[in-house]
Amino acid sequence: MAILVTGGAGYIGSVTVELLRTEGEEVVVLDDLARGHREAVAADIAFYHGNVGDRALLARIAREHKLESCIHFAALAYVGESVQTPAKYFENNVAQGIALMGSLVEAGVRRVVFSSTCATYGESDQETISERTAQWPVNPYGWSKLILERLLASYDGAYGLKFVSLRYFNAAGATERYGEHHEPESHLIPNVLSAAQGDTPEVPVFGKNYPTPDGTAIRDYVHVADLADAHIRALGHLRRGGESDFLNLGTGHGYSVLEVVESARQVTGRDIRIRFEPPRPGDPPRLVADPTKAKAALGWTPGKSDLRTIIASAWQWRQKHPHGYVS
Ligand SMILES: NC(=O)c1ccc[n+]([C@@H]2O[C@H](COP(=O)([O-])OP(=O)(O)OC[C@H]3O[C@@H](n4cnc5c(N)ncnc54)[C@H](O)[C@@H]3O)[C@@H](O)[C@H]2O)c1
Repeated sequence: MAILVTGGAGYIGSVTVELLRTEGEEVVVLDDLARGHREAVAADIAFYHGNVGDRALLARIAREHKLESCIHFAALAYVGESVQTPAKYFENNVAQGIALMGSLVEAGVRRVVFSSTCATYGESDQETISERTAQWPVNPYGWSKLILERLLASYDGAYGLKFVSLRYFNAAGATERYGEHHEPESHLIPNVLSAAQGDTPEVPVFGKNYPTPDGTAIRDYVHVADLADAHIRALGHLRRGGESDFLNLGTGHGYSVLEVVESARQVTGRDIRIRFEPPRPGDPPRLVADPTKAKAALGWTPGKSDLRTIIASAWQWRQKHPHGYVS
């Protein structure tokens, strides 16, 4: 019995595949490599290069492997890009995602762990965001994920498809083997480390007049290895016959952009210069999780997610891969 991991050549997918394999699971990866890296998937893992919306390919995968579940990471995931080219996001994340869920139901798969996001909440005036916080996204990326969440809830009712939708806050950090390499890179920590490395002269900081103590945006950073662990636990929950659920994955602590830069200066010992830019459309001032529900439902603790540990792990990976992945 195999787990289909879509987007397994991407950042969070590759780390989760690594952990699944350590736990002795059989894994099949499907990725179109639009944003992923072939070398982020070990050579002995069954790998299909293609789109999740390709129903003929999905039928072939289901013929060649006995699929018991799917962890669906594959998506485009840049807030700014989604504002500029929403069609790309609705076509890739929603249309292809709907086709994937249809293929899974047809193949008899009834367990899905879905990569959702704090972007489904939009702007909230609460200190921390719980799963009861109203969802009203402020960018097409967030909408594309919320639509899939609604679809999953309907498919549970109609087809008995059980799912856990994990709403990640900001993934960051690296394992010894796998780290973050996006092109272009829009995430703060890799960009801060590029500046520390001297690849870029300074870090762009988007917005300095947000209603936060230092005026820069606040985010909740969670270590990618802790995210991977939550996926294994979510799968275990479904295998034990657990009900479908929506869970926040974050730490409950937020850091401003300036705090992240300062921590990176301390970890790397390098001078890191910043340059203020106008705020990006669709970027809320503060996104911090209340992770109580995930901790209780999954017995999950984000034990690697303090900011220094996150930055140190990303810095170590970066020093081993100064230009990221080659392929
Ligand atoms: N990185 C974060 O902080 C964060 C936060 C919240 C949610 N998420 C979600 O987690 C998931 C993984 O994020 P990531 O940072 O690892 O992104 P990533 O871009 O590194 O990985 C996504 C992978 O999916 C593949 N892909 C995209 N569309 C595809 C399609 N239609 N068919 C096949 N493959 C496709 C890409 O090639 C890539 O390898 C995404 O769904 C993202 O929306 C990420």
